[in-house]
Amino acid sequence: MANDSIGYSGLQITLHWLIAALVLFQFVFHEPIVQAFDDRIDGDMPVPVEETGAWLHVVGGVIILILALIRITVRTRHGVPAVPREHPALLRWIALATHYLLYGFIIGMPLVGAAAWFGGIEAAGAIHSAARFILVPLILVHAAGALVEHFVLRTNVLRRMLVPEKR
Ligand code: HEM
Ligand code: HEM
Repeated sequence: MANDSIGYSGLQITLHWLIAALVLFQFVFHEPIVQAFDDRIDGDMPVPVEETGAWLHVVGGVIILILALIRITVRTRHGVPAVPREHPALLRWIALATHYLLYGFIIGMPLVGAAAWFGGIEAAGAIHSAARFILVPLILVHAAGALVEHFVLRTNVLRRMLVPEKR
């Protein structure tokens, strides 16, 4: 799937940044759903979801899932540029592992969240909650990697996620 002679398409770039923005939104906007889920598990009188804003977190997460599935389909058809060959094997491995893990999270987080929210499964809520301790460092490593590529190693890795390839 990785290819030395292609870049990301406009669609791939749009999906990447849209998903990144929505993931940020999920982190910023989780308070109401945590409260609503707590109330439900504790058996307290639930406040109607549309009044709490909890639904915004659900909608945000479901959109991420749909966009992630589109993105993976596009990736399979279009391919992706290879990690620069001149990098040491360990660095290339870290870059790829980070990408695959991030794909895992943008699919897995909504599914586990849905199991908690729609299935009322408390353990799923705990896993969904704890996942942030892996996801946040992962995003930081990923974003730092992009900046190091650009400013220290001076590769085109960040640029190719900003400017679509010319065909
Ligand atoms: C990539 C998508 C998602 C991300 C990044 C995300 C992120 C988060 C975060 C950061 C929290 C707060 C955890 C805490 O402070 O304890 C949370 C809570 C929660 N989210 Fe999501 N979420 C996503 C998708 C979803 C979806 C689609 C649903 C439901 C359909 C959902 C349901 C919940 C529930 C029920 C809680 C409360 C869990 C608890 O308190 O135990 N999430 N989410
Ligand atoms: C400020 C935040 C971010 C920056 C600066 C950034 C930057 C980049 C760059 C430059 C690439 C291209 C890497 C390459 O061509 O080898 C990339 C790929 C990728 N990014 Fe991000 N990103 C950010 C946030 C995120 C977030 C929040 C997610 C998902 C949770 C994400 C998921 C991915 C994935 C899965 C790829 C691999 C694409 C592929 O080749 O299939 N990124 N990112």
